[in-house]
Amino acid sequence: MVNQIESPTRAKLDGPDKKTALITGITGQDGSYLAEFLLEQGYTVHGIIRRSSSFNTSRIDHIFSKITLHYGDMIDSSNLSSVIYRVRPNEIYNLAAQSHVKVSFEMPEYTGESTGLGTMRILEAIRTCGLEKHTRFYQASSSELFGKVMEVPQTETTPFYPRSPYGVAKLYAYWAVKNYRESYDMFACNGILFNHESPRRGGTFVTKKITAGVARIVCGNLETLELGNLDAQRDWGHAKDYVRAMWAMLQTEEADDFVIATGVMHSVRSFATLCFQMAGFDIEWSGTGEDEIGVDQKTGKVLVRVSPKFFRPCEVEELLGDPSKAKKHLSWTPTCSLKELAYDMMYYDFSVYGLELPESAKTFLDNPAFQVTCAQELAARERTKTGVAINVRGV
Ligand code: NAP
Ligand code: GDD
Repeated sequence: MVNQIESPTRAKLDGPDKKTALITGITGQDGSYLAEFLLEQGYTVHGIIRRSSSFNTSRIDHIFSKITLHYGDMIDSSNLSSVIYRVRPNEIYNLAAQSHVKVSFEMPEYTGESTGLGTMRILEAIRTCGLEKHTRFYQASSSELFGKVMEVPQTETTPFYPRSPYGVAKLYAYWAVKNYRESYDMFACNGILFNHESPRRGGTFVTKKITAGVARIVCGNLETLELGNLDAQRDWGHAKDYVRAMWAMLQTEEADDFVIATGVMHSVRSFATLCFQMAGFDIEWSGTGEDEIGVDQKTGKVLVRVSPKFFRPCEVEELLGDPSKAKKHLSWTPTCSLKELAYDMMYYDFSVYGLELPESAKTFLDNPAFQVTCAQELAARERTKTGVAINVRGV
């Protein structure tokens, strides 16, 4: 497979109906699903990718020949302007961010630069390129805006109370989008997305840490899984469902902001319990706070323990979204339940470690006909093993 990264010439105009989209953060979890989805809708897809000393395209390798990539960074405004000028996108999906809440406490300034100011840089680039009436803009806003929640469930009108440098940076970006919409009549939307996960989720987010951790324990590669706050509660959905909502927001008559969530909340502890049960463990919890442990009833082995190193200086204890507005105006509903999400992620992580999920895992599914979403990822892993998926880049 031979691929090129776009040289700095202006993109050709396509047929009158073919839309062009530009995705920042295309190498991330959401960027990769969104790129697939937009290709299915017939879009020409461009993406911005960071220069890295090692390959960082594993999530998009299977569509590498169908998309055009441009090197760029959210902290480099001239580069962002130049890419936007050349691509002249009909739609920009701004997904790039330093997206890890705990890391944002360690890198607050960089998080502000990339996650907050980066959004302003793109909005300003659209304007200075004279594209404010041509380009629709989607901003990856976050339920972290609600932080220490002021009401339950959270809606588009719930007051914000961010609890991390990440949340504060997303707040700046949220208001920048509103301000450019009101000041310049730009079609710019905030998607206030609650946590969404998938087999492609980054390994340091809690769901992936748990599903991969269970697989590693089963194959003997990990003794005990260490987690932080087990009481935290989140409204977890599937990323594949959530990218449909991003697109739907840019297809409406009038730009607006939408909460995207499932409307169901679970604790970290209950997600971990579900995953261990799917793998055939009978886990029982005892102790409290830092002394809490999860023990396998059959063997007495400690499967989970709490480590304060995963605590945050300031915690968001619970997040629960009300997606009624999206249901009404975007006809959007989530299709994947938490059990299906856990099964999908576990199925993939077990395969990565050369294991198979026990047949009994299926009994946890309300819909036994559920199809895992990770067939492409598994096929890509097979191709990589046999050396077929080596990308040769144009640099
Ligand atoms: P992710 O997997 O962490 O992906 C982040 C993407 O941003 C990656 O492609 C990353 O590139 C890129 N990036 C990071 N810093 C950059 C920079 N300075 N310049 C250019 N690109 C940069 O995140 P995700 O889960 O897909 O989330 C997508 C967006 O939605 C993020 O803005 C996130 O904050 C927001 N969000 C996510 C959730 C969720 O639950 N997933 C919920 C609400 C909002 P590399 O691959 O090179 O690292
Ligand atoms: N990462 C992590 N690691 N989190 C843990 C752990 C652990 O070992 N143990 C407990 N947690 C708790 C965290 O303290 C938090 O309350 C919860 O699990 C979820 O943590 P993450 O999965 O890291 O996600 P997040 O909620 O902080 O942030 C994600 O969702 C936001 C939307 O609400 C990210 O995707 C953000 O980019 C996104 O905006």
